[in-house]
Amino acid sequence: MQLRFLQQMLGGITLIASFMFSTGCLWQSPNAGERASKSIGYNSGYAPEQPIPFSHELHVGKHNIQCQYCHNQVEYSKTSNVPALSTCMNCHQQVATDKENIKKIRDAYADGKPIEWVKVHMLPDHVQFNHSAHITRGVNCQTCHGPIEKMEKVYQYSDLSMGWCINCHRQPENKAPLNCTTCHH
Ligand code: HEC
Ligand code: HEC
Ligand code: HEC
Ligand code: HEC
Ligand code: HEC
Repeated sequence: MQLRFLQQMLGGITLIASFMFSTGCLWQSPNAGERASKSIGYNSGYAPEQPIPFSHELHVGKHNIQCQYCHNQVEYSKTSNVPALSTCMNCHQQVATDKENIKKIRDAYADGKPIEWVKVHMLPDHVQFNHSAHITRGVNCQTCHGPIEKMEKVYQYSDLSMGWCINCHRQPENKAPLNCTTCHH
C-alpha cells in the first residue's frame, strides 16, 4: 500500500515537474506569448488568420465533401492531419481555376511548396490525445469540433480543458479511462 502511494506521489511530482519544464520551454519559443496562454487550455473561439481563406461551409456544407476525404489519416494515426495540396488538386486542376486563391494553390503545388496552415487546436505538450481511439468508438467529429460544416473559418469550439475531457470520460456509458497516465506521459 505504502509503496503504491509513494509511486503515485512521485508520479504526480514528475508530472508537475515536466509540466513546469514544458512551460519553461514554451517561454523560450518565438511565439511564446500565444503558446503560454494556449497551454492553459481555454481557447474556445480561437480562429487564426489562414494563408488562404479555406471555407468548410463551402466544401462540407454546400458541396458535401466528407471530412475524411481531406483528413484522411484521422482514423488511423494518433494525430489527425490537414490535407496535402495534392488532395486539393484532385478538384482544383479543373474547379474554379480562374479564382485568385486557386491560382495561389496551383502555383504552390507547381513549385512543390506547402501551404502553411496555422494550427487552430493545440493541447499542451504534457497531454496525449488520440483521435483513433475516439473515432473507432463512434464519437462524432462535431461532438468535439462543433458545426464545422457551417464554419466559413474554422474556430476552436470546445475549450480543450482537462475538465472537458474528464466530464465525457466519466459518463458511465463511455467506459473511458480516468487514470492520470491515460492522458499524461
Ligand atoms: C476539402 C478538404 C476538407 C474537408 C472536406 C474538411 N476539411 Fe477540415 N480542414 C481542411 C483544411 C485545408 C484545413 C486547414 C485550414 C483551416 O484551418 O481552415 C482544415 C482544418 C480543420 C480543423 C482545424 C485543424 C487545426 O488546425 O486545429 C478541423 C478541426 C477540421 N478541419 C475538421 C474537419 C471536419 C470535422 C470536417 C468534416 C465535417 C472537415 N474538416 C472537412 C480541409 C478540409
Ligand atoms: C473526442 C474529441 C474529438 C473528436 C471526436 C475529434 N476530434 Fe479532432 N481534435 C480534438 C483535439 C483535442 C484536437 C487537438 C489535438 C492536439 O492538439 O494534440 C483535435 C485536432 C484536430 C485537427 C488538427 C490536427 C491535429 O490532429 O492536431 C484536425 C484536422 C481534426 N482534429 C479533425 C477531426 C476530424 C475530421 C474528426 C472526425 C473524423 C475529429 N477531429 C474528431 C478532439 C476531437
Ligand atoms: C472534391 C472537390 C474539392 C476538393 C478536394 C477541394 N475543393 Fe476547393 N472548391 C471545390 C468547389 C466545388 C468549390 C466552389 C467553386 C465555385 O464556387 O465556383 C471550391 C472552392 C474553393 C475556394 C474558393 C475559390 C473562390 O475564390 O471562390 C478555395 C479557396 C478552395 N476551394 C480551396 C481548396 C483547398 C485549399 C483545398 C484542399 C485542402 C480544396 N479546395 C479542395 C471543390 C473542391
Ligand atoms: C465526447 C466524449 C469524449 C471527450 C470530450 C474526450 N474523450 Fe477521450 N475517450 C472517449 C471515449 C469514448 C474513449 C474510448 C474508451 C475505450 O474504448 O476504452 C476515450 C479514450 C481516450 C483515450 C484512451 C486511448 C487508448 O488508447 O486507450 C485517451 C488517451 C483519451 N481518450 C484522451 C482524451 C483527451 C486528452 C481528451 C480531451 C482533450 C479527451 N479524451 C476527450 C470519449 C471522450
Ligand atoms: C481524459 C484526459 C485527462 C486525464 C485522465 C487527466 N488529465 Fe490532467 N490534463 C488534461 C488536459 C487536456 C490538460 C490541459 C488543459 C488544462 O490545463 O485544463 C490537463 C492538465 C493538467 C495539469 C496542468 C496544470 C494546470 O492546471 O494547468 C496537471 C497538473 C494535470 N493535468 C494533472 C492530472 C492528474 C494528477 C490526473 C489524474 C488524477 C490527470 N491530470 C488526469 C487531461 C487529462
